[in-house]
Amino acid sequence: MRTDEEIAELIRLYLPKQALFEIIDQFQLDIMQEHGLPHWIRVAANGLYLAPETGASDKLAVLFAIFHDCRRLNDYEDPKHGARGAAYFQESFQQRLGIGPREAGILCRACAGHTHELHSADPDIGTLWDADRLDLYRVGVHPDPEYFSTEYAKSEEVVKWANRSAFSSFNQLLPIGQELLSEYESISIS
Ligand SMILES: [Fe+2]
Ligand SMILES: [Fe+2]
Repeated sequence: MRTDEEIAELIRLYLPKQALFEIIDQFQLDIMQEHGLPHWIRVAANGLYLAPETGASDKLAVLFAIFHDCRRLNDYEDPKHGARGAAYFQESFQQRLGIGPREAGILCRACAGHTHELHSADPDIGTLWDADRLDLYRVGVHPDPEYFSTEYAKSEEVVKWANRSAFSSFNQLLPIGQELLSEYESISIS
């Protein structure tokens, strides 16, 4: 099991900071609300927690977290937001971030499908969707195990871990979220 420190290190390693700041710039909703940065950081952390067991890519866990909801236009029904996130990644970031066609294909399929597809047998895509759904606890929803693709996400250990993370926002469990936001704000102001 990965520790909080190991997860924060991996987020630092794989998170393209300049890209994140641009994504925050164009985000149409409140960055601190339910589909904003605290959620993205928790989805990254959930994915990185699952990855050693499910075989998913750490890098894709972090990239999915920052792209999957970044083109939402409201916090309610917005069924095309995943597809828009995938297109935004392809058009504005794939080349710049040096993401090859195989990884980009997985990331785009995961972003586009997370809104309406239930399961994936692909270990990367299944893990990414589970990472997002494990954060439903933030809005008081206990996700039905039926909605998870990986067996590991259904385990009591993971459910406990995600529960603890879902309510933590930017507190001491995931201080990296606050660090990134403070850095973004200092750049935006100066
Ligand atoms: Fe979403
Ligand atoms: Fe999400």
